[in-house]
Amino acid sequence: MSQPVQKAADSASPYTGSDDADAVLRWGLSEYSPDVALACSFSLEDLCALHLMKQIRDDVRVFALDTGRLNEETYECADRVARKLDVEIEWFFPRHDAVQTLVREKGTHSFRESVENRHECCHIRKVEPLGRALKDLRAWITGQRRAQGVTRTETAVVEIDDAHGNMIKLNPLATWSDAEVWDHVRKHKLPYNRLHDAGYPSIGCAPCTRAIKEGEELRAGRWWWENPEQKECGLHFRI
Ligand code: ADX
Ligand code: SF4
Repeated sequence: MSQPVQKAADSASPYTGSDDADAVLRWGLSEYSPDVALACSFSLEDLCALHLMKQIRDDVRVFALDTGRLNEETYECADRVARKLDVEIEWFFPRHDAVQTLVREKGTHSFRESVENRHECCHIRKVEPLGRALKDLRAWITGQRRAQGVTRTETAVVEIDDAHGNMIKLNPLATWSDAEVWDHVRKHKLPYNRLHDAGYPSIGCAPCTRAIKEGEELRAGRWWWENPEQKECGLHFRI
C-alpha cells in the first residue's frame, strides 16, 4: 500500500519561480489552462486559492468530490462560494454500484472498524472519483499546507504527481501559516464554512470529522481514532 507521506521539493519540477502563491498560480494557469483545475473541498485554503486564481483570469476551473457523506454546512458553503466568486463547480460522485455494495456488505460505518476499511471507503468515495476528475487534466491545484500536520511538512509548491501519471500538482499555499489564511479570508470577505466557527479547522466527511480541543493540531479532528501518521485519505498519497 502507498504511504501517506509527502516528499520534499521536487527537483524534477518544471517550475523555477518563487514560493509566492500568486506567482505559482500565474505560472500554472498560463502554462496549463484550460487543462488545470482546483480540487476544492471548500476549506479556507481552497477559498484563498480560488480567490487568487479568479484575480489572475476569469475562466478558472474548480472541481469538488461529493463523497455522499459531507456536512450540510459544506454544501451551503459551496453554493455561497459559487455565487460570490462566480464559478461553476464541476461535481464528481462515487460510482453508485461501489457505494451500494460497500454499505450493503459492511454497513454504514465500516470505516471505524479498521484502517483498511477506512481506506476502502475513502478509495470508493474520494480516490476513484478523483481519478476521473483528473483524467483530462495536465495539472491540478490543491490547498495543502505544510503547517497542516506531520504528513504535509514537506509539501512543495509545485510537485510531479507520480500517483497520477506524473501530472503537475500545484500547492500554492504550501508555505502559508494559519494566520495568513484567515487574514486573506477576512480581508476579502470570502464566504466560509460555518463549522469553522464551531471549532472545526479542518473539515472532511461528517462522520470522520470532529471539532478539536485547544492545543490540538489542525487535523486532529480528522479520523481522530487513528494515528497522526495515517491521517490521509489517499487523495495525496505518494507512490
Ligand atoms: S484530505 O485528503 O485529508 O481529505 P484535506 O481535507 O486536508 O485533505 O484537503 C487537502 C486538499 O485536498 C484540499 O485543499 C483540496 O484541494 C483537496 N480536497 C480534499 N477533499 C476534497 C474534496 N472533497 N473535493 C475536492 N478536493 C478535495
Ligand atoms: Fe468514507 Fe470517512 Fe473517507 Fe469520507 S472520510 S470517504 S466517510 S472513510
